Amino acid sequence: MKQIRIALIGYGNVGKAFARMLIRKKNYIMETFGCEPVITAICTGSRGGILSAADPAGACGTAAACGIDTEHLSDDQFDRGLDAFAIIDSGQYDVMVELTPINIMTGMPATEHVRRALNLGKHVITANKGPIAWAYRELRDLAREKGVQFLYEATVMDGVPVYNLARETLMGCQITEVSGIFNATTNFILTEMEKGSSFEDAVAEGRRQGFVEADPSMDIDGWDAAAKLTALMNVLMDVHITPLDIDRTGISAITKAQIEEAAAQGKKIKLICRGVLTEGKDGGLTPVGSVKPTLVDQESLPAIMDATSSYVSVMTDLMGGVTVIEEPFEPEIDHTAYGVLSDVLRILANAHAR
Ligand SMILES: NC(=O)c1ccc[n+]([C@@H]2O[C@H](COP(=O)([O-])OP(=O)(O)OC[C@H]3O[C@@H](n4cnc5c(N)ncnc54)[C@H](OP(=O)(O)O)[C@@H]3O)[C@@H](O)[C@H]2O)c1
Repeated sequence: MKQIRIALIGYGNVGKAFARMLIRKKNYIMETFGCEPVITAICTGSRGGILSAADPAGACGTAAACGIDTEHLSDDQFDRGLDAFAIIDSGQYDVMVELTPINIMTGMPATEHVRRALNLGKHVITANKGPIAWAYRELRDLAREKGVQFLYEATVMDGVPVYNLARETLMGCQITEVSGIFNATTNFILTEMEKGSSFEDAVAEGRRQGFVEADPSMDIDGWDAAAKLTALMNVLMDVHITPLDIDRTGISAITKAQIEEAAAQGKKIKLICRGVLTEGKDGGLTPVGSVKPTLVDQESLPAIMDATSSYVSVMTDLMGGVTVIEEPFEPEIDHTAYGVLSDVLRILANAHAR
């Protein structure tokens, strides 16, 4: 049976959840595509990496890659000398999956990982939005030149098919506006404040429930939402902006009094992201993106997005507005893992269709 060999660059929450999901869906993949998925490389930041025996003389004694037994991994299997670039350059994989932590201000080193693997003619999947927010157009063009696929469904709203909706379901539609609530941490804090908490108490409660990180500044200051909006605009509107181009205001200045005042007017305050193409004097289109605390009617869609729910709406020329909603799900990390798995399945489906 043919194989699809996968290298995981980053093996934290998402990497582990994806590895578990791959085991769960292995039979489905083999039956559907006649192809066995195997993880042939794993890389971490602190422990180094693992490369499985992946050549015909491999330890499993077959012409196939053995694959790493992710259910029984131990620290002593990791080689500290194997960093991300050593693994990417090994070439012992068909698909490189980028799962390192995001650097919202630079997109690095993820962008360099993606660039290196694409240059080697490998398919690339990323859940890290850095490369899409900083270098989408270049990486997309490089993938086309190399005849490989570059997919990123998990970068915004986890596994909810946002890019896929535009690419496949709304084929032929031009997207002129994208909007929504993209950041769960700030939505959780605002929801807690509506229930009467102060900003500080809402952050503390979020930390206790695991929704809010030890340092939530990237979320609270709107940077995470700005990076997601940038990623969506770059892909869905074919523009070339970075998170620095977004007009961004976070929620740190929102007070309990403002929330109460909004409620008295039948409104709520939500951190709304919005990206549009506006026509300039020369008739050309300019991308304009904003992330801002916004007053919304209590019965409106954004207002009913409580805690960790989120949504994306797109405005199209042929279909008008179309909205997708991500509802809370346990375990939440499986949403992201599914986003990565769905990209693997897309690569297999495209190969199958040829
Ligand atoms: N968690 C989510 O719900 C979610 C949702 C959507 C998208 N994402 C994105 O998915 C990516 C992974 O998220 P996560 O939650 O799995 O993060 P995580 O738990 O922090 O795991 C990150 C992994 O990357 C490794 N790493 C760090 N620097 C590296 C480097 N230079 N080279 C190779 N490996 C490196 C880390 O190594 P150590 O093990 O040594 O620390 C760890 O294994 C992030 O970009 C995140 O923004 C996450």
